[in-house]
Amino acid sequence: MSTQSDTRKKITIRRLAEMKQAGEKIACLTAYDASFASLLEKSGVDVVLVGDSLGMVIQGEETTLPVSIEDMLYHTQCVAKGLQNALLITDMPFLSFTSEQEAVLNAGLFMKQGGAHMVKLEGGIDQADTVSALNRNGIPVCAHLGLQPQYVHKIGGYRVQGREQQDADKMLSDALALQQAGADLMLLECVPEVLAGKITRALDIPVIGIGASVNCDGQILVLYDILDISLGLRPKFSKNFMTSSNSIEGAIRQYVEAVKQEKFPADEHVFR
Ligand code: KIV
Repeated sequence: MSTQSDTRKKITIRRLAEMKQAGEKIACLTAYDASFASLLEKSGVDVVLVGDSLGMVIQGEETTLPVSIEDMLYHTQCVAKGLQNALLITDMPFLSFTSEQEAVLNAGLFMKQGGAHMVKLEGGIDQADTVSALNRNGIPVCAHLGLQPQYVHKIGGYRVQGREQQDADKMLSDALALQQAGADLMLLECVPEVLAGKITRALDIPVIGIGASVNCDGQILVLYDILDISLGLRPKFSKNFMTSSNSIEGAIRQYVEAVKQEKFPADEHVFR
């Protein structure tokens, strides 16, 4: 019997760009091991992120800062074994891209030994040269703006970004600069819905939101939040899909469907 994952096309950067053009929403989730990765694949998730959120949900740390290159490589290798067609992104952990050379070497490790198709890194225009270096070396990049958890101690907590006009203008210009430097995908975290819509329309590359409203081209959440197994409080922008499903696979399928049909995020998950 053929499954959805046998018949669907490989998700590539080109396919994601086509989806943006066609207005087809992109469903993304995090995963940290092969079993969950294979459930995500079967359920039609387009993009799987091995997020450094693993520091919090797997390792029980208070922040993502302690996560190492070795941790990210190990979990990327596990997730890659569960995937066939979904695009696999690996997060560059805290202080793993302090120079262009370091960024290329570490990202190269995730691609060569881990099986990642793309890396994600937090930071604005200050990271444009790094994005450019990765781009020159054939490494696809997802930029990450808005709330950047690796900067938690600089920001003084986890809070919505871009509420002030000046911050909103800077986020838009950072997004354009990162696209210009060669970013292939943009992630916006905890951004008010109007600003998220403005950035999504201004960019040619697809924009994935987490706490950034339905105005983005796609959505991502931390898998453990939708399954209600995260330690601590679930953020306002997330949703427990286990309340309406009697299985983990069912909850993941409902999330994918809700994203595709623009039923998630709903009003209560949005920052205004
Ligand atoms: O680390 C992570 O899981 C992330 C998501 C919250 C987008 O960056």
